[in-house]
Amino acid sequence: MTSKPVRIGMIGYQFMGKAHSHAYRDLPFYFDNPLKPELKVIAGRNEEAVKEAQEKMGWESYETDWRKVVERDDIDVIDIVTPNHTHAEIAIAAAEAGKHIITEKPLALTVEEAEQMLAAVKKNGVKHMICHNYRFAPAVQFAKKLIEQGKLGRIFHYRAHYLQDFIIDPSFPLVWRLKKEVSGSGALGDIGAHSIDLARFLIGEFTEIVSTMETFIKERPIGEMTGGLSAQGDSTKMGEVTVDDAVAFLARFENGALGTFEATRFANGNRNKNKFEINGEKGSVRWDMENMNNLELYLASDEEGEQGFRLINCTEEVHPYVGAYWPAGHIIGYEHTFIHLIDEFFRGIAEDYQPAPNFEDGVQNQKLLDAIEQSAEERRWIKL
Ligand SMILES: NC(=O)c1ccc[n+]([C@@H]2O[C@H](COP(=O)([O-])OP(=O)(O)OC[C@H]3O[C@@H](n4cnc5c(N)ncnc54)[C@H](O)[C@@H]3O)[C@@H](O)[C@H]2O)c1
Repeated sequence: MTSKPVRIGMIGYQFMGKAHSHAYRDLPFYFDNPLKPELKVIAGRNEEAVKEAQEKMGWESYETDWRKVVERDDIDVIDIVTPNHTHAEIAIAAAEAGKHIITEKPLALTVEEAEQMLAAVKKNGVKHMICHNYRFAPAVQFAKKLIEQGKLGRIFHYRAHYLQDFIIDPSFPLVWRLKKEVSGSGALGDIGAHSIDLARFLIGEFTEIVSTMETFIKERPIGEMTGGLSAQGDSTKMGEVTVDDAVAFLARFENGALGTFEATRFANGNRNKNKFEINGEKGSVRWDMENMNNLELYLASDEEGEQGFRLINCTEEVHPYVGAYWPAGHIIGYEHTFIHLIDEFFRGIAEDYQPAPNFEDGVQNQKLLDAIEQSAEERRWIKL
């Protein structure tokens, strides 16, 4: 198939910059998408670093001011991979300039900001997507299919945790992720937002939540992220941590299910344990990002004596997305979730439909993030 070019301008170039750059490069290799990305321009404030990223990740040019990228008329899509406090300003400017937008999560710092972003993309008729990439793991897509087919029946429980441990060491510096004015919230918005999105994707809307939060280490040496989840700091200068280190919340869903959630960066030994289990009247499913190709499925209809969770390696032709890669059993990884998300984004642009998850999902997610913080503060249930 002949694909039409789509010209990308990306703002930011570190952890997510690498994941998105890789996805653009690999998408046409594996998928017949109607659009073919051209990696036009990458932006960052530090010229030396952005130039190095431009060369390494295969972008045509670089800018040191994101506004120049948004203003360029040879750009169709703006990709936002910068910290959370910058998302709203860049996205609104990009929408006003008529660019399609893909942004990292969480959408913004507050519901108000998120709603302004949604209003801007709607007003300007551009396509928009928020990067909740875990939806695009083939095993998660397959779980969604099983739920839609009624294989689990009525859903009783949604149980999720997202556990990391990269800031347990008190000398881990005070990076942007630990400052409320830059990140909005801590473990909640950084990883809890993914659990919220998976729950909404798989079983539907929340109606009520009650939560509790904690900041275990209140002061840290000033520092900055250096790529991935690594950082460097200056141990002679300390600053205050202004976000949560951990959050736990209970939820009720529109479909009558109960939810239990936990997000923390203090679960020693858990590097990226993004996990859910769903229990229904006819069966259950379980998924764990650290073994992302597998889905565990329990069906109560199995013969007595043979019942138990079966392990499905979601790498068969029938499983979503994986047919584009390798023969069954030849597994894929984290980076592929981004390829699938961008495949969906480009199809939305080419075929003129609004792909998901998008800014509407980002606003719903942000409403939950805000409600969870409010609940912890006021120590009460909040209706959504
Ligand atoms: N989807 C996921 O699983 C996932 C994982 C990690 C991060 N994220 C999200 O991606 C975004 C970026 O996170 P990250 O981990 O890549 O961060 P990072 O610290 O690794 O990279 C941030 C990038 O933004 C640039 N930057 C910072 N402030 C800027 C500004 N004012 N103007 C222009 N550029 C600026 C930095 O130079 C750097 O290139 C965040 O919103 C984060 O929540 C999502």
